[in-house]
Amino acid sequence: MTDRLGTSDIFPPASQYVYMDAASVGLSHTKGAEAISDWQRALAERGTVAFTEKDEVECLDNLNDAAARLFNADVTDIATASSETVLMSSLAWAVMPGAGTNIVSTETTHPSSVYPWMRVAEHTGAEVRWARADDSLTIDPDVLEDLIDENTSVVCLSHVEWGTGQVFDLKRFADAAHRNGAICVIDATQSAGQIPIDVAQSGVDAVATSTYKWLCGPFGTGMMYVAPELQKLSPGIIGWRSHKDMWDFQADRFEYADSAKRFEFGTMAYGTAFGATVSTNYLLDLSIERIAEHNRQNSDRLLNGLRELGAEVLGPKDAASRSATVAARFPGKDSADFARTLKEADVIASLRRDFIRFSPHLYNSSDDINQGLSAIRAAL
Ligand SMILES: Cc1ncc(COP(=O)(O)O)c(C=O)c1O
Repeated sequence: MTDRLGTSDIFPPASQYVYMDAASVGLSHTKGAEAISDWQRALAERGTVAFTEKDEVECLDNLNDAAARLFNADVTDIATASSETVLMSSLAWAVMPGAGTNIVSTETTHPSSVYPWMRVAEHTGAEVRWARADDSLTIDPDVLEDLIDENTSVVCLSHVEWGTGQVFDLKRFADAAHRNGAICVIDATQSAGQIPIDVAQSGVDAVATSTYKWLCGPFGTGMMYVAPELQKLSPGIIGWRSHKDMWDFQADRFEYADSAKRFEFGTMAYGTAFGATVSTNYLLDLSIERIAEHNRQNSDRLLNGLRELGAEVLGPKDAASRSATVAARFPGKDSADFARTLKEADVIASLRRDFIRFSPHLYNSSDDINQGLSAIRAAL
């Protein structure tokens, strides 16, 4: 039975491997990858004849349109650059939480969600507060919320944790931040493309993502939603594309763009924006809700199978706090050896610390999950 949502003509490796590694690098949309190489070839052959100034504007605008759909935002609230880390760093310096304030995050978040804020805190003297995880690497949302107080300036979370796939309720933490006069900033690199994100409904203040994981796009592109109130700030990184009229080129009369575009700053590997536009629109046309439901069925199957095989599954127990990512340890087995054995059987997952992280996506079928479980049974 093949019940994959993303077919193998679009994701060829899906028929060669049991590829459950989107939390590391998702399979790329073939047409997106082609768009990148077509752009690169045309540029090499014909320079600005092929890639005009109009194209240079539109390639990011088209991706911003896709990101606006992805986040349920207005396109004027979106900026594109080369990665989540770059955009988050620029935002952190723009917000610059001061001495006497605190930044709340989790110890299980991805470094790139929080290092930009830690770097600013190192400069200003702001405190960084950590929600600690239990033995299954789960964060208790009540413990996290209790860290937020009237001195909090930023609640900085990964929507989905990179290791366990734990999902945080965006509205809950945006509300908690706002009640205390803080902002809520989200790294969506592990959620965009696998579960819906709605900035209007949740009220979060900023969301940044890279595109090479669950968005099935390339390395080299990131998008950020920035709420209108934050668009008055001076970004940490500026350049010619931050100008209201990027073709002005009169250095001594810099005027910031009135929109989130002030967070864009320079050239990038523009071809990646073409690729990311193709893959993001493809996922949106399928519907992220549908993808989430497909992934939930597969990850439930995997989770139950792993438990039956005696694996120790990490992360939250309640279904509402889980995403497609499933992390597990296998008692008595060295995870590094175990991951190698699975790879030899063409079951692709990630070794992270002392656990194995499986992250199936739209191109996986229930047969894949069964095959993966059989390989795990054999390895045990
Ligand atoms: C939550 C999260 N944020 C950020 C990154 C990486 O950021 P960048 O693409 O900017 O290198 C990762 C990569 O694993 C991630 O899981």
